[in-house]
Amino acid sequence: MAHLLLVESWVGAMGTLLPRTVADQGVEFTFLTRRPEHYPETLTDGSPHPLRLGRAVVTAETNDPVAAVDVARRIHAEAPIAGVLTSCDYYLPTAARIARGLGLPGPALEAVEIACDKSRTRAALDRMGIPGPRHATAPVADSARLHAAAEAVGYPLVVKPTDLCAGMFVRRADDWPTVKDAVDDLRGFAVNARGQQRSPVVLLEEFLDGREFSVESWIRQGDIHTVGVTDKSLGGVSGFVETGHMFPADLAAGDRAVLVAAAEAAIGAIGLDHGVVHTELRLTTFGPRIIEINPRPAGNQITELIRHVTGIDLPRVAVELALGREPATVASEAENGVARPRSAAVRMLVPEEAGIVAELHGVDAVAAHPAVASSAFKAPGHHTGAGVDNNSYLGSVVVVSPDRAGARPLAEELLSSISVTYGEVSAR
Ligand SMILES: Nc1ncnc2c1ncn2[C@@H]1O[C@H](COP(=O)(O)OP(=O)(O)OP(=O)(O)O)[C@@H](O)[C@H]1O
Ligand SMILES: [Mg+2]
Repeated sequence: MAHLLLVESWVGAMGTLLPRTVADQGVEFTFLTRRPEHYPETLTDGSPHPLRLGRAVVTAETNDPVAAVDVARRIHAEAPIAGVLTSCDYYLPTAARIARGLGLPGPALEAVEIACDKSRTRAALDRMGIPGPRHATAPVADSARLHAAAEAVGYPLVVKPTDLCAGMFVRRADDWPTVKDAVDDLRGFAVNARGQQRSPVVLLEEFLDGREFSVESWIRQGDIHTVGVTDKSLGGVSGFVETGHMFPADLAAGDRAVLVAAAEAAIGAIGLDHGVVHTELRLTTFGPRIIEINPRPAGNQITELIRHVTGIDLPRVAVELALGREPATVASEAENGVARPRSAAVRMLVPEEAGIVAELHGVDAVAAHPAVASSAFKAPGHHTGAGVDNNSYLGSVVVVSPDRAGARPLAEELLSSISVTYGEVSAR
């Protein structure tokens, strides 16, 4: 039985999907984490969480890459490891470093480091002549340099951390006071949720106007295979919270080709040569512009949308690539004699205010709708902040449709039938 090393994990959907996919392929895994207590023991139905079902949970300081490689070597000596993966962005470079240290399949470490640092990504794309937004960096604590950087970029601009995810602290600014506020907020977040010291540098980018998409690809031996293009809807307090996705994107064939070409050029430009990759772009009037390149499968259930429509299971592809195998991606037209849906969409419920969720009305009717593939919502009593980033969802619904662009409107309609009341949870 092949043995995979999982280095940390998200606790959201991919944190369940990935270990489940590993187990479903008859592969055993060791879960390496600095804090086992960060992860749930069980799923909501009381069954053990898939992260707990590996051959062992090993505790070691994964925030120290050298220590992580050392412990991986020790595990490897006891039970040879055939591949390394993580679903958590903060550990992608460490997973690549372990793969390199143990001589296992994996992406070029430097490419992963570039992808995980938004300012290095910008610099690498600039060097390769790939058009992007005007951008500048400045230390979060240096107001004069920040001001100069903002003037150089011009308004409107986007203030963003170089090393976070889920849209955290990403803000549009139309003037200097807003830049200052956004940077003040960011300065207060010096350590990320995994206890890692954050970069003291902030990135300012020209605001790119246009619809947003992502291109989902996998790479083996440097060859890029693109599975398709997903579209994205945005909202929330910042305007940058992901509120939904549809696969395939509702897009003219020419635009699709342009987006795929831009994503593949960017992946090549940063030297990414192995693994599953999720590239985010905006289609502006001047053409496609890269937002960022994530060297991992897409989150927010995009991989589930793709699986419903194409049969291609990108978490599974990620596992196969990590093990050095050729991915089995030949998708069948139909599954068990039932034609595949032609579109699939997810819609997230974003809280409109901070508070305690007293009740979510309408979730049972949504779950029972025949077009709904899955849905999950927070329970009453959940404490929520306002919808400032992708961490604040109250739930989501995944819908499939026999029509090419049918899933998104249906998902939107179903989600709009749900209403939230806030306040104390009434005793029943
Ligand atoms: N230069 C820009 N112009 C316009 N919008 C932008 C720009 N940069 C970022 N955004 C918006 O902010 C969102 C979050 O930015 P980005 O993807 O860089 O951050 P993130 O924290 O890595 O997000 P995630 O992990 O959710 O993908 C983007 O999806 C996009 O909507
Ligand atoms: Mg992003």
